[in-house]
Amino acid sequence: MKKKLYVATFGCQMNEYDSQRMVQMLSSDYELCKVPEEADLIIVNTCSIREKAENKVYSLVGRFRRLKDQNPDLKIAVTGCVAQQEGRRLQERAPFVDIVAGPQGIHSLPKALKEVHRGRQAVTLTTLQDDFVIPEIKAPLPEKDAVRTFITIMQGCNNFCTYCVVPYTRGREVSRPPAHIIDEAVRAVSQGVKEITLLGQNVNSYGKGLGTTFSGLLRSICNISGLKRVRFTTSHPKDLTQDIIDCFGDLVPLCEHLHLPVQSGSNRVLKRMNRKYSREHYLDIVERLRRRCPQIVLTTDLIVGSPGESDDDFEQTISLLKEVEFDQIFAFKYSPRPNTKAARFNDQVDEEIKSARLTQVLELQNEISLKKYGMLVGRTVEVLVEGVSRNGRGQLTARTRGNHVVNFHGPKELIGTFCNIVVEKAGYHSLVGSLLDPSSAPLHNGSKVFTLPLS
Ligand code: SAH
Ligand code: SF4
Ligand code: F3S
Repeated sequence: MKKKLYVATFGCQMNEYDSQRMVQMLSSDYELCKVPEEADLIIVNTCSIREKAENKVYSLVGRFRRLKDQNPDLKIAVTGCVAQQEGRRLQERAPFVDIVAGPQGIHSLPKALKEVHRGRQAVTLTTLQDDFVIPEIKAPLPEKDAVRTFITIMQGCNNFCTYCVVPYTRGREVSRPPAHIIDEAVRAVSQGVKEITLLGQNVNSYGKGLGTTFSGLLRSICNISGLKRVRFTTSHPKDLTQDIIDCFGDLVPLCEHLHLPVQSGSNRVLKRMNRKYSREHYLDIVERLRRRCPQIVLTTDLIVGSPGESDDDFEQTISLLKEVEFDQIFAFKYSPRPNTKAARFNDQVDEEIKSARLTQVLELQNEISLKKYGMLVGRTVEVLVEGVSRNGRGQLTARTRGNHVVNFHGPKELIGTFCNIVVEKAGYHSLVGSLLDPSSAPLHNGSKVFTLPLS
């Protein structure tokens, strides 16, 4: 009988992908269980992007420690970005943790497990190699009842934005060979996946050292027969070239949504962040994207209260939000991170100012989101039905090509299919609609227009 494995995942989609790969690597000996109390192995796959995420890890592993009293054979592994950052310190602070493995180290997890089972006290896998090669995993992909899936195309980051911990936790950029990515995508599609999101911290710089480019990979992925929807994240504005912009106009499976983190609207702050683009460059990209693909939906990340951000700098961010009108934003209060340059800047912003600025951007964005989402009311949109909504109203939840969540009443058999929905109501973060007669013609007819005009 197989042993039981419980995985708790924090952080970005790349961590979710890594968690799936760990399950895959361990699948000959372990199967997933739903609660940590049943587990023989608990993996906590951690994130270190902002302070709170880290604290959560320490309190969570503290809780898992007690389970060792009932099951002395239980092993606990802490993986991911906090593991990389803390290394041996983590084992000192939480000596009951058996394995500490950073994002590169997770591939040696099966071997490390054997060692701790043989009696070794603890294993730390936190060496970061600059010439790291992402290993291909021989075991079959996990069973996919998923409608959509992620595929990591590159690992690490070379950008060293001054606020960001990722280059220290995930190491240098390495791209997976296109053949491996395409093979994985083809297998996912043959297992029923309808939507694939290509992942990396900076996907636009994919292919360096492999003699290929991101737009080249994107074109190959969009050629896979049966694959209806393709997305990618995250893009760095400095690497978003015209050939990638053109893909939004050319490639039918490529969804009309781009998440393009701007971080700040002030050139002075962007410079201190080491972002390597200006406000004007960013606005020019937005204009070119909208010219090439008028229905494109844009979302962004931004940081308020980063070191030295003045009232005037912050106003520039506000004015950029008004100018671009993103559909959604993810806004964060700056949080100093270990090893980063910005943590050592001596003009840190007061916590109260950060909080007030965050409230202000979120209030402004709520207005903008409501306006943008409101523009879809009365329209028919094509959605991919993902599952049952968690809103408790017995609705299904689906997603438009523009990445808007739509909830509606319909039979569960629609999960995994494409439907046409008439949008009836807009909220800040989602839409409510009703199902159009299933026999109506699909909107996805090979053109790049997926929203019917207002009748
Ligand atoms: N690679 C992506 C994003 C990585 S992290 C990119 O380059 O855009 C996701 C988001 O977390 C970032 O876009 C940024 O807005 C936020 N973030 C990163 N470090 C942060 C910090 N120290 N404090 C607050 N927010 C941060
Ligand atoms: Fe962090 Fe910047 Fe790299 Fe994104 S591009 S992961 S923000 S260093
Ligand atoms: Fe977090 Fe590491 Fe992802 S810090 S956001 S899990 S790259």
